[in-house]
Amino acid sequence: MGPARQALRAATQESHDRLDKAAVLQPLVRPDITKQEYVRALAVLYGFNAPVERALGQGAARLALLREDLRALGADPDALPEMTGLPPLDSAPARLAARYVLDGSAHGGRAMLPGITRALGYDARRGARFLASDGLDMAEAWKALMVRLEEELADPAALAAACATAAGLFAALERWTAEQRLGEQRG
Ligand code: HEM
Repeated sequence: MGPARQALRAATQESHDRLDKAAVLQPLVRPDITKQEYVRALAVLYGFNAPVERALGQGAARLALLREDLRALGADPDALPEMTGLPPLDSAPARLAARYVLDGSAHGGRAMLPGITRALGYDARRGARFLASDGLDMAEAWKALMVRLEEELADPAALAAACATAAGLFAALERWTAEQRLGEQRG
């Protein structure tokens, strides 16, 4: 693992560990997850992925899978709330960091898939195409991204900007998951 990825991982690890335990995301790793909890978790992830992908404007193939899953589960992605207050994604290091956060989350998605299929029957063909990154060569994309991280973030100032953005996106996502939880409790 190169120094740039190590730095990005170090800058986001604690937040990532808290997110795993976030009330609206934690059911994704529980064997007794309900359909309602699953739709809720996907809706919250949509509210994060959609504005970030839109800001990046890079095709958003994985987001299209998430929209399809939400529709297959009876939700309308266009009616879902989206996060505001994103860190600025207006520099090359910031945009690279955002890509790292989004594509990195595919790792967790694949790890969760077998449990979701066992618990709810959704899989890469229907209902869990996003978690499966169905039809997308994420391994190849990740390898190419790792090369870009080390090349384009070799300059300490660029790396610092990328780490600040990645940490800012995770912090914004933590706020977003907490807000969604509060909204749910208020009913
Ligand atoms: C219940 C929620 C989650 C679980 C269980 C989970 C689990 C995982 C797992 C197992 C990995 C692979 C770790 C490794 O290779 O060492 C991973 C990596 C990663 N996850 Fe998550 N994840 C979750 C949520 C998220 C969210 C919401 C995001 C951001 C949107 C995210 C971003 C990342 C990133 C960027 C990496 C790559 C880190 C690296 O190896 O450099 N994860 N996650």
